[in-house]
Amino acid sequence: MEIKIEIIGFGTVGMGFLEILNKKANILKEKYDFLPKIVAITDKMKGSLIDEEGIDIQRLLKIIKEGGDLKDYNNGFFAFEERNSLDIIEEIKSDILIEMTYTNLNTGEPATTHIKKAFEKGKHVVTSNKGPIALYYKDLKKIADEKNLLLGIEGTVLSGTPVFNLIEETFPPNSIKRIKGILNGTTNYILTKMETEGMSYESALKKAQELGYAEADPTADVEGFDALAKVLILSNVIMEGDLKKEDITREGITRISSDDINEAAKSGYRYKLIGSVEKEENGKIKASVKPLKISFSDPLSGVSGATNALTFETDLLGSVTIQGPGAGKIETGFSIMIDVLRIFKKINKQERK
Ligand code: HSE
Repeated sequence: MEIKIEIIGFGTVGMGFLEILNKKANILKEKYDFLPKIVAITDKMKGSLIDEEGIDIQRLLKIIKEGGDLKDYNNGFFAFEERNSLDIIEEIKSDILIEMTYTNLNTGEPATTHIKKAFEKGKHVVTSNKGPIALYYKDLKKIADEKNLLLGIEGTVLSGTPVFNLIEETFPPNSIKRIKGILNGTTNYILTKMETEGMSYESALKKAQELGYAEADPTADVEGFDALAKVLILSNVIMEGDLKKEDITREGITRISSDDINEAAKSGYRYKLIGSVEKEENGKIKASVKPLKISFSDPLSGVSGATNALTFETDLLGSVTIQGPGAGKIETGFSIMIDVLRIFKKINKQERK
């Protein structure tokens, strides 16, 4: 079954998603009859590519690999450079909007407006953008539910490593008392390189940027804002809290020196930037982001590089730790893929009724 997709914000994650679509096209078709048609790709810096017949993904990937960009795709397409993202959501017919613009943790824009517009037009939404989900998840989910639309947010925490889909499907009726973990790939990568290779903070950060882990402005990573956004998302989506940014205490890794790291290692501890969300006895949710010395015996201590991990403390299962990639092109592209596939299955089911 054909499914029409539009993409807003075309950077690393968008490329990762298209590469997966291309690589897994046969399996997706054979197993699920999944026939994606990318009808529009628009990016503030790169312009817009619109083809209601479906953009040739293989051709576009080849152009980009050879150093070209959206504007170099020329295969009988119609590119309306003057159409902005909102016009595209308004005018182009599609089933799913994938929102991958840069995260803005202060306003959640322009993503929040894009998402609301898509819901207004009856489109499902998948996003890896943490801004709108950290700030406005409850409002957005309410609109989606009212319209019987899905809002896929898997990529906002732990990139493609399953968190939300996994918890929703397989955790109830467990009660989760606490979630704690490593939520930022860049800082974990830096701390690991400083400890294991004696790399300087600056070189490790530069490498993390080159590998595509860091945010557009890496202050968001090293000062703990990115981890804070993820803690906020976990609080409000999984723990059903209603926290605001200001309710979470935050400290980044910039005060941690190589000496601190070496000293800690001598006594069996490792510094990790830990995000934590806890439900207190009175039902109140308390959350924080801070560097903590974690004992070598704790599973979180062995999580290295850009890998992320979350430990869920539950009443029925005790502690469950999920570990996996937390950033990266294919890894986050995969998170988009799982949510798109979930929506596809829902649409497919509805059509068959
Ligand atoms: N900058 C983020 C990180 C990307 O390093 O974890 C994934 O959200």
